[in-house]
Amino acid sequence: MQGKRVLLIVSGGIAAIKIPEVIRSIRKLGGSVRCVLTKGGEQFVTPLSLAALSEDKVYTDLFSLTDESEMGHIKLSRDADVLMVAPASADILAKLAAGLANDLASTVLLATDKPVICVPSMNVRMWEHMATQANVQTLEARGVTFIGPVEGDMACGEYGMGRMVEPAEIIQGLKAFFYDTPRPLCGRHAIVTSGPTFEPIDPVRYIANRSSGKQGHAIAAALSDLGCRTTLITGPTNLADPVGCDVIQIETAHEMLAATEAALPADIAVFAAAVADWRTSGEAQEKIKKQPGATPPSLNMVENPDILKTVSASGNSRPTLIVGFAAETNDVLTNASEKRARKECDWIVANDVSPETGTFSGDNNTVHLITDGAVEDWPRMTKTDVAKQLAGRIAHYFEAAE
Ligand code: C5P
Repeated sequence: MQGKRVLLIVSGGIAAIKIPEVIRSIRKLGGSVRCVLTKGGEQFVTPLSLAALSEDKVYTDLFSLTDESEMGHIKLSRDADVLMVAPASADILAKLAAGLANDLASTVLLATDKPVICVPSMNVRMWEHMATQANVQTLEARGVTFIGPVEGDMACGEYGMGRMVEPAEIIQGLKAFFYDTPRPLCGRHAIVTSGPTFEPIDPVRYIANRSSGKQGHAIAAALSDLGCRTTLITGPTNLADPVGCDVIQIETAHEMLAATEAALPADIAVFAAAVADWRTSGEAQEKIKKQPGATPPSLNMVENPDILKTVSASGNSRPTLIVGFAAETNDVLTNASEKRARKECDWIVANDVSPETGTFSGDNNTVHLITDGAVEDWPRMTKTDVAKQLAGRIAHYFEAAE
């Protein structure tokens, strides 16, 4: 979103508390955000927090003499590439549909010649009311783009349609709006595991491995770029959360399994994490002390749950396409093919992680994609390109199945 300017109109609704996350993500992607906050919006989020995150003044008042002399409501919209109303309350949709201009937000919306995106958020009955539905139809006919709403739990305790989409989906919608990118995986859900797991020995020590998480994180980002709602479940890494994904941080294999099961159902699951095969049988509750002259303590290891195998055998909740990884140091293809059968997954991405390849912490990867009876040897490329190519293959799989 490099250089794109969003005029973000924040109206009243509990979902306004998620807007700081949206501002952060747009700016991380190189865009800029200027906020207009309605009186209702101010009940949920302060001008100060939006100003701090957007690093710009926040506009609230139509009749502020300083605002009018310094900026003016016409200039507010002239300086933007798009106007986005998020959350868009039933009230602001009604004002926009009727052409009212009795506060700064509605005046800017009426005075603009820029595209408008609305991200509705309201109680199910308000959303389903004929008045709101008629307003939405009117606005769509005038070219307003809608992102959401979705069905879900409401802050008022009810359940239904009207919930604002998550910040990650707002970002995806914005990207699609700006770049008209194909979103072949729109409407699908992917779970991606990434990084190492940490298995505690005592409160200060743990067993880990050298996984950087670079490949798993890149896959999550690539799936999200194709419009897929993506849940990334990751062990400890030094990487930033990929923009557009729901990220769940875990430490142990058990936590990764629990988070994976909680994130189901999904259409796609890519298990790129380097899950520890073993953990210590009983984590010491206190730091194990070094005793002068005593023999070092021995660690009793037990097997960790196999997340890939568990999810592959999960019956009704099994994702349609499960992709496992096989990090091998020898007989890469034979071992990987055996692994595909043993773990009952659909595809295996096999990679050679011998130390001389530099795969584990490096930026490049040489992989083989093992599908039903076929093996493809991919040339050495960056982990980002491996991710894009894999996400493309996944999209193709679903297109072909339709
Ligand atoms: O058995 P191995 O660790 O070589 O299998 C690798 C594949 O299985 C990877 O996709 C990895 O994410 C997954 N795996 C898992 N849970 C484990 C061990 C591996 O999901 N406990």
